[in-house]
Amino acid sequence: MPVSQSTVQLINHLDRDYLRQALERDVRAGLEAVPKQLPPKWFYDATGSELFSRITRLPEYYPTRRELAILREHAGDIVARGGADTLVELGSGTSEKTVLLLDALAGAGRLRAYMPVDVDAVTLREAAGRLAARYPGLAVRAVCADFEHHLALLPRTGRRMVAFLGGTIGNLGPDARAVFLKDLRDTLNPGDTLLLGADLVKDVGRLVAAYDDEAGVTAAFNRNVLHVINRELDAGFDPAAFDHVALYDEVNDWIEMRLRARRAMRVHVAALGLTATFAAGEEMRTEISAKFRPAGLSRELTAAGFAVRRWYLDPTGDFSLVLAEA
Ligand SMILES: C[S@@+](CC[C@H](N)C(=O)[O-])C[C@H]1O[C@@H](n2cnc3c(N)ncnc32)[C@H](O)[C@@H]1O
Repeated sequence: MPVSQSTVQLINHLDRDYLRQALERDVRAGLEAVPKQLPPKWFYDATGSELFSRITRLPEYYPTRRELAILREHAGDIVARGGADTLVELGSGTSEKTVLLLDALAGAGRLRAYMPVDVDAVTLREAAGRLAARYPGLAVRAVCADFEHHLALLPRTGRRMVAFLGGTIGNLGPDARAVFLKDLRDTLNPGDTLLLGADLVKDVGRLVAAYDDEAGVTAAFNRNVLHVINRELDAGFDPAAFDHVALYDEVNDWIEMRLRARRAMRVHVAALGLTATFAAGEEMRTEISAKFRPAGLSRELTAAGFAVRRWYLDPTGDFSLVLAEA
């Protein structure tokens, strides 16, 4: 019996010029801000994605295991309720958990297209190739894009479920989240769904440990942003001169990752013609990771125009997936 070939199409909205300009803009603004801060998307070059994959396997990092447990238990129900034939995945990374959704769609005889979207072109291409080989007949359209800027450019074919897994939504602060959810809702047709992975508020000790592991992998991931800036903008950061810091902000309910200067230093960023001055002990924020309560996130989704259809929690109550309809 002939097996129909999968097709892989790559669409790139992040050419070198775009990336370069966006990085220049973010680094200049971030180093001139008080306190200094950098957006987390710049962690993810090929090395950063590899380090993140290692983080997901660490004993302290519960979110991936918990989200997998939910998908193992409920992927069939999620897919049945969603009614989609096209899976769009934002911040798809290695697409490892996605296989559970794709299997469920295939099992229901409704798997037509998969559209992973990520800023890291290398990891995106690898994942797209791997999944095309696994699912004969699947149309894979991999989109290298920034989900904060390019949602309106994503292909709109098929009945879609947009998966946004891993708790990545928590990397956006409340204002950015409101804009993102509203923009996403505006790109969807009635009946399309959003499957959102959200980490839940819990014991502070466990939260901090998840972002400050014993083996130092998260510390290496955090410092990777300095390697990216050194390479891309000809900067002179000494990553070893920065300590990794993870703390929980109980007012905002989010983890903050920071890099703390071990000594006073001046760092020249040649491509920007800018010299940043760090005092000894000065901290630069590199990521927030918001933790949610279902009622609060339901309100945010409703305010963006979604109808919340179902919450799925893992048996420990650590992590959640919420299915919402446009
Ligand atoms: C926390 S990881 C999650 C990866 C995967 N979804 C998971 O659940 O394990 C975040 C992913 O989003 C991607 N990413 C971060 N910011 C992005 C942005 N603004 N636009 C598109 N992708 C982004 C990263 O490259 C990375 O693959």
